[in-house]
Formats: sequence, structure tokens, C-alpha cells
Amino acid sequence: MRITMVGTGYVGLVTGTCFANVGNDVTCLDIDQKKIDKLNNGVSPIYEPGLDEMIQRNTKAGRLHFTTDAANAYQSAEVVFICVGTPSDEKGRADLKYVLAAAADIGKAIEAGPGSTGGGADERRAKIIVVKSTVPVGTNKKVQDEIAKHTKKPYKMGSNPEFLKEGAAINDFNKPDRVVIGAEDEGTGDRLRKLYDPFTRNGHPIFVMDIPSAEMVKYAANAMLATKISFINEIAALCEHYGSDVDEVWRGMTSDKRIGNQFLYPGLGYGGSCFPKDVLACISMGDECGHPTPLLTSVHAVNQDQRGRFIKKLDDHFGQGGLSGKRVAVWGIAFKPGTDDIREAPSLTLMNALLDRGASVVAHDPVAHETCRDHGMQDRIDYSDDVYDMLDGVDALVICTDWPEFKQPDFEQMRKRMGQPVVFDGRNLYQTQAMRDEGFVYYSVGREPVNAPVPTNA
Ligand SMILES: NC(=O)c1ccc[n+]([C@@H]2O[C@H](COP(=O)([O-])OP(=O)(O)OC[C@H]3O[C@@H](n4cnc5c(N)ncnc54)[C@H](O)[C@@H]3O)[C@@H](O)[C@H]2O)c1
Repeated sequence: MRITMVGTGYVGLVTGTCFANVGNDVTCLDIDQKKIDKLNNGVSPIYEPGLDEMIQRNTKAGRLHFTTDAANAYQSAEVVFICVGTPSDEKGRADLKYVLAAAADIGKAIEAGPGSTGGGADERRAKIIVVKSTVPVGTNKKVQDEIAKHTKKPYKMGSNPEFLKEGAAINDFNKPDRVVIGAEDEGTGDRLRKLYDPFTRNGHPIFVMDIPSAEMVKYAANAMLATKISFINEIAALCEHYGSDVDEVWRGMTSDKRIGNQFLYPGLGYGGSCFPKDVLACISMGDECGHPTPLLTSVHAVNQDQRGRFIKKLDDHFGQGGLSGKRVAVWGIAFKPGTDDIREAPSLTLMNALLDRGASVVAHDPVAHETCRDHGMQDRIDYSDDVYDMLDGVDALVICTDWPEFKQPDFEQMRKRMGQPVVFDGRNLYQTQAMRDEGFVYYSVGREPVNAPVPTNA
């Protein structure tokens, strides 16, 4: 099939490459010329394990193309997937300006097009416009209306929310837990189902449903996952207060099959380009239709507080004004391991809090230095390519991302190089007993502090 992906970001690039990999002819369109130039030189603008090789192989085979030429990309496609960003606006609603701008261009291209396959008079072969971006219920209708302002030629609408996880995106797309398709009629659903056949043939489920339900599935899924994270973080806060150990609580609780053990790890709260904005968008959807969502409002509030609670541990340890002039090392910038995405990353909140308090920061991330620099952090912090060199003389180490390479470090070298052996672990990477034995002062989430100084007013 001839496919155009609109937006060559984490979703458009991965899904476009995977569609090309099974034999489709895919054009990835973007308005960012720099991104497209990079891709045409065989370089991926994002870090995603395995993606570079797949891009190069499929480009070489002539199945994968990158362009900024919207008219051609739209006219030649049988199926157009809209994969542009839907960030939060100032009120927390999903901002649809990129989606609707793409829709207007699609409408103009259909109108100007040749009127053959993918836009012709034959309804059964009409171009399908699929919204893959995460959008509030009703957005497909808005996209349809926007296209209709520019053309009277036939086209079909579909919704296909994407569930890939950055860091495991290729595997998630090739072996999906499920594929969800919303279609305006049976024929459109069947055509989209066929497109996913290579990915669902081995028993991975595909659900075809009405468009409003498909739009809601994605928000319901992300809201549930965010809820699990805020839930365990709230329990972790209680554990700290009452002297319980959240690891033990986790073991005892998650052995109940009805609860399960996935996505219930305490830490710095959720970040990234999806959960924060999708929870806010859900809350806005509720407000707009007069059905408030108190549960999700609390999920968001707990998540916001979680970072503040962690920063308070640093404040309490160093005392009033005590961070001023201190040097703090940060391990991990990306919002989670396996990606260079730092949107809404907890590390940014923590590093900014340290800078605000007059500390200087040296950070290391295996892949996210460039994205961090581009995020206004070029000159504000130092970057280190080595996890140990950066520890020379520092007053504390803060761990923000659970990259595998941080999980079993050389503790002796760390202790010797640090000015003060103080570790603030936002990901509970280490056993508290091991840190006690290694002689660190160690703060984590939902567990007792180790070797912490007794407050002078106690
Ligand atoms: N990142 C994820 O893990 C993930 C997972 C599932 C769903 N989603 C959803 O998918 C959507 C895209 O997310 P993303 O992370 O890939 O975004 P992104 O910001 O990485 O990429 C979006 C791209 O769209 C381009 N763009 C904007 N307007 C355009 C236009 N008119 N024509 C062509 N290109 C245009 C931008 O230049 C950018 O490269 C969002 O709605 C997001 O919520 C993201």
C-alpha cells in the first residue's frame, strides 16, 4: 500500500519505518527541514534502539522516503496517517492546531489531486485519513470537517491510536498487545485491518470499532497507567511516614493476581510526552462536558507533588540555603531509559530546583545530552560522558532515570570520588542494606533513609 505518515517524530517515524519494513511504500512527511535532511542522510533525529538500521535498510530498498513536499506526499497516498504532536495548551487541553493544519493541507491536496486511487470518485478506493495522534473524542469529526472545507471529493476517516513505548517502540509495533482501529464504515475498517495483517497474524489482537470509542481507548489506557504510578507513589509517601518499606509492601500487594505487578513502581512520578498531557486532556474533556474527573485530577496532583517531595529530601539534608555553592551530579536525564526524549522529564524539574538553590549541576545520560542542550540547558549545566569522572568532589548524586548501566555501579569508586557520599535515588535502584554496608548516606522513595544525619532539632 502507498502510505504517508504526517509528522516524522517518535510515532510517525517508527510506525512509518515498520510499515515499510513489511513491504509498503511509505513517505514520511514533516515540516521540519532539518529532520528530513538528517533522515535523507540516513541519520535518525531520535534515539530508538534498532531504528537507524531499519531506516537505512528500507530507504535503500526504495520503500521509505522522507520529504517536506506535502502536496505530493498527500496526493500519492492511499492511506494518510496523521502523527503530529498534540501538546497541552495553556488550559491543559489537547492543542489540535497541528492536527487541523495537516487536515487543511490534506483537503487542499485531495482537491488538487488527480482523482484516481486514493482520492477518486470510487468510494471504495477513496483515500483514508487516519488520525494516529492522541486526540480527544470528537477530533476525527473536526478533521473531517476541516478537510471538507477544501474538497468535495470522497475520502474516508479512520482512527488508529498508537500504543508504542519509547525505548521498545519497534517491538511494540511489530508485536502489539493490541491494535485498535476506529472506522467510519465496514469497508474502511477492513482496508485498515489488512494493513495490520502482518503485525496481527500471529495472534496479536486487532479490534475494529466506532471512531469515538477508538479515540477514547488511548486516553483510558494512559489514564489507567498514570493512575497506577500515582497510586504507588501515594502509598510510598505513607510508607515513609509510618516506617514501612515500599519494596515489602509491593511484594505483599502485587502477589494478588487481581492487582498484578506491572507499572506499580514508586519513583519520581510519570513524565514524558504522553501521560502528563493525556491525563490533563482527560480532565479537560470531563470539564468540558460537565462530568468532572476527580480521580484523574488527584492522579495529576499526586504526580506534581511527587517531585516536590523528593526535592524536599535534598532541602532537609542540606538545610536552609545549604545547597548554595554545592556541586551535584545527576545520573539520567531522559524521562525513562531507552529514549532521548526529555519532555516533562523529572530530571528537568530536579536540575532546575538545584540551580534555583544556587547549586551547580553536572549530568550524564547515555543518549539525551543533545536533547537536553536543545531544551535550553546548553550552558546551565555541565555534561559528562563518564559516570565516574563527574563524581569527583561532588556533594551529592541524584539518580533520575533507571538506565541499566546505573544499576550495578562500582560503589567503592563512587564513594572514593565523591566529596560527600550522599545519594538521592529517585528510582530505588539499590537495596537499602547494601547502601548501608557501602557507607553511603542514601535517600530513596518509600523506604527509610540510610545513615541520614539526625536533624539537630530532633
Ligand atoms: N511519543 C510517544 O511515545 C507516543 C506514543 C503514542 C502516541 N503518541 C502520540 O502521537 C502523537 C505524536 O507524538 P510524537 O511523540 O511522535 O510527536 P513529535 O513531537 O515527536 O513529532 C511530531 C512531528 O510532527 C511534525 N509536524 C507538525 N505539524 C506538521 C504538519 N502539518 N505536517 C507535517 N509534519 C508536521 C513536527 O515537526 C514533528 O516532527 C501525539 O499525539 C502523541 O500523544 C506518542
